[in-house]
Amino acid sequence: MEITVGSGSITSVVADTYAIQVYEGDRHISAEATAIDAGLGGTIAQMIADGLIKGTAGELTVLPAGRRLKAKRVFIVGLGKRGGATLDGMRERTGNLSRRFRDLDAGHVATSFQEITAALDPEGAGRTYAEAATMSLYRFDRHHTRAADRPTYAIERVTLVEPNARKAAAVRRGVEVGRILGEATNMARDLANEPANLMTPTIMAARAQQLAAETGLECKIIERAEAERLKMGSYLSVANGSQQPPKFIVLRHRGARGGRTLALIGKGITFDSGGISIKPALDMDRMKGDMSGAAAVIAAIGALARLKARVNVIAIAPCTENLPSGTATKPGDVVYAMDGTSIEVLNTDAEGRLVLADAIAYAKAQGASTLVDVATLTGAMGVALGGVRTGVFVNNDRLMADLERAAALAGEPVWRMPLDEDYMEQIRSDVADLKNTGGAPAGAITAAKFLHHFAGETPWAHFDIAGVMHKAADKGPWVKGMSGNPVRTLVHFALGRARAAE
Ligand code: BES
Ligand code: MN
Ligand code: ZN
Repeated sequence: MEITVGSGSITSVVADTYAIQVYEGDRHISAEATAIDAGLGGTIAQMIADGLIKGTAGELTVLPAGRRLKAKRVFIVGLGKRGGATLDGMRERTGNLSRRFRDLDAGHVATSFQEITAALDPEGAGRTYAEAATMSLYRFDRHHTRAADRPTYAIERVTLVEPNARKAAAVRRGVEVGRILGEATNMARDLANEPANLMTPTIMAARAQQLAAETGLECKIIERAEAERLKMGSYLSVANGSQQPPKFIVLRHRGARGGRTLALIGKGITFDSGGISIKPALDMDRMKGDMSGAAAVIAAIGALARLKARVNVIAIAPCTENLPSGTATKPGDVVYAMDGTSIEVLNTDAEGRLVLADAIAYAKAQGASTLVDVATLTGAMGVALGGVRTGVFVNNDRLMADLERAAALAGEPVWRMPLDEDYMEQIRSDVADLKNTGGAPAGAITAAKFLHHFAGETPWAHFDIAGVMHKAADKGPWVKGMSGNPVRTLVHFALGRARAAE
């Protein structure tokens, strides 16, 4: 779907569908709506007067366009009561409406943007429209081979019509950013939705290399032998049970001369069976999404390259399967991380922290000055916050403030979780420096404390996205399946860093 911005009048655009907005309780409609209504012989005004169009939020009226307009149909969208318009509300509405428009086979839609930019910052509105439309129309249907399972109804193109030329230029700037944000989210979804047999560590590495070729990112794949030389014993212990070679993916965006480097680190377990501490069968298929953190950081750095963000970023995705076999790591085994920390593996299903330990150590060795990791780390996180908020653990208040701002811009809510030193007692081992499980109480926190040990004093944030990894239904910009959360938060955060450095 292509999104363009037109600065004339909507009635001069040749399209399949015109879309206009009306507020609840308004007696007058916008100039653009009035121009369209002239072509309809005043039907819209009459229907409003008769109470047949109320303008309530979620209302959608479909009219034939007749002969005098350059479109076939007119969609009249209710905005609810005037006042209190927000970009969050617009994102939600645009997502839901885009799917309804698609189901009506809207084709080329010309949307009046006049009522929107009267209430909201034009650039933000353009960005929000593009990201919500791009995200909400996402479908993962590539493995349906029957045509009937792949609907052809579509929004082929959208023209946002903003009569004011200065505002139109701002909307256009926003659309460009929003499209990149939406497409990056959809890339993360594509990686995570793909079943594990078709998204092995090798395939993930190939996708990262392809992204690098498209965007100018630098890409380095650390193979098993090099990981051994680097003494990444914690990461490699997870790969022991798998026939698939592990791939430690490193992507780099050099957007600023000199200066500090932000590391985005994502858990890349392409399938988590639990290993020898095997998981129950129910819903185990979901664990094809256990590389959602890796997908998010790869997609985010791709977006930063496309946006030419003036910031240095390194994305690190330690990828491997976690499977049981005769060569798999066993409960009680002791392994050594890259930084020399010894770890007693009490539960092979607590593998995420094992791969992240070496990834965090590697990021620090690369000179990163801020670390943000993203991981489907614990079921306990999903129990605590459900699918609404991501739990974020941070060792630095300023970093939390910046992340909160970025998350608010993205509409991906976060909640700060604690990191008290007393939780460390639960992960001290009798035979090694640390053990990889702290028992049932505070399971998400002890997992975070494990990572905290490797981050140390370096400003660090940990996103436990286990609860928000998957959506059960379409809602606003979200669609059923793997979510692509928090790609946009990461991008906004890095863009904020770039602005702060200017
Ligand atoms: N990948 C899982 C966590 C998970 C669960 C993510 C559900 C998304 C949805 C992780 O590797 C795991 O198995 N964690 C264990 C840790 C425990 C053994 C300490 C868990 O949460 O049970
Ligand atoms: Mn696990
Ligand atoms: Zn896992």
